[in-house]
Amino acid sequence: MKVLATRRYPGSAFDELADVEIRALGELESALPDVKALIVANEPVPVELLPGLELVANFSVGYDRLGIGELRRRGVAVTNTPAVLSAATADLTLALILGVRRRIVEGDARVRRGEWTGSWADSFLAEELTGSTLGIVGLGGIGQAVARRARGFDLNVLYTQRTQVETDLGEFRELDELLAESDIVTIHVPLTPETRGLIDARRLALLRAGTSLVNTARGEIVDEAALGAELVSGRLRAGLDVYAHEPHVPEEWLSLPNVVLTPHLGTSTRQTREAMTRLVVDNVLAFERGEPLLTPVV
Ligand code: DGY
Repeated sequence: MKVLATRRYPGSAFDELADVEIRALGELESALPDVKALIVANEPVPVELLPGLELVANFSVGYDRLGIGELRRRGVAVTNTPAVLSAATADLTLALILGVRRRIVEGDARVRRGEWTGSWADSFLAEELTGSTLGIVGLGGIGQAVARRARGFDLNVLYTQRTQVETDLGEFRELDELLAESDIVTIHVPLTPETRGLIDARRLALLRAGTSLVNTARGEIVDEAALGAELVSGRLRAGLDVYAHEPHVPEEWLSLPNVVLTPHLGTSTRQTREAMTRLVVDNVLAFERGEPLLTPVV
């Protein structure tokens, strides 16, 4: 079965694909009718150039950029990589929470600029995690992994979900209540038509002054202009790994001390990226053998 992959994905599992061509989608000039399976990292699929396409194996849990509607209309099967990336993404979420609350990046910059005077007793005060309230928006695999880690930091955990679930990981709140009660809010919902702009200007205004907003999900879930205004005014703090127009980051954020910015690193550990490749390849091989897909997108 002819497979097209948009890059060489990390890990030895990739070598198990017998007939694979590596090409960036932007390099496709004419149709490739013999390609049956495509491996992409949440990139728009040019269906008109791949008329024989039967499977898209997505190297990402999020599939918001694939053009899923058209793929479904054409009967193309789609898989993604849930679960294997939850720990790495939750770890980065905690790193951003700590970075923002303990002002780690600000401190690092101060040292590098040679501005550390040695005085410590009365300067650079930050916010403790112990006893703070963490609001988790979306208690799926990643949200749950964050909640488990939060226990170790003695955070009080609130969560919101479309439907309330039976869990001891935190207390359920409606979204607006959660925003108003939390010291830290972290987002773990997928980008869908319902979640695009979910955290808009009205909801940002519900956050108390000094609240930290952390986003390792998708930039488009937050109204970036409204968030920018809150950050520039200094009312909110943020730890952000994702942006509405990646790799563009709003210029005015670059000099703000109250924001920690990372370049979409949620899943970027060697172990997780290799596990993602393993799952992608296993889905392709299962499809080739006519077996059930391991992680079909429903
Ligand atoms: C995902 O899996 O959706 C991540 O954002 C990609 O790293």
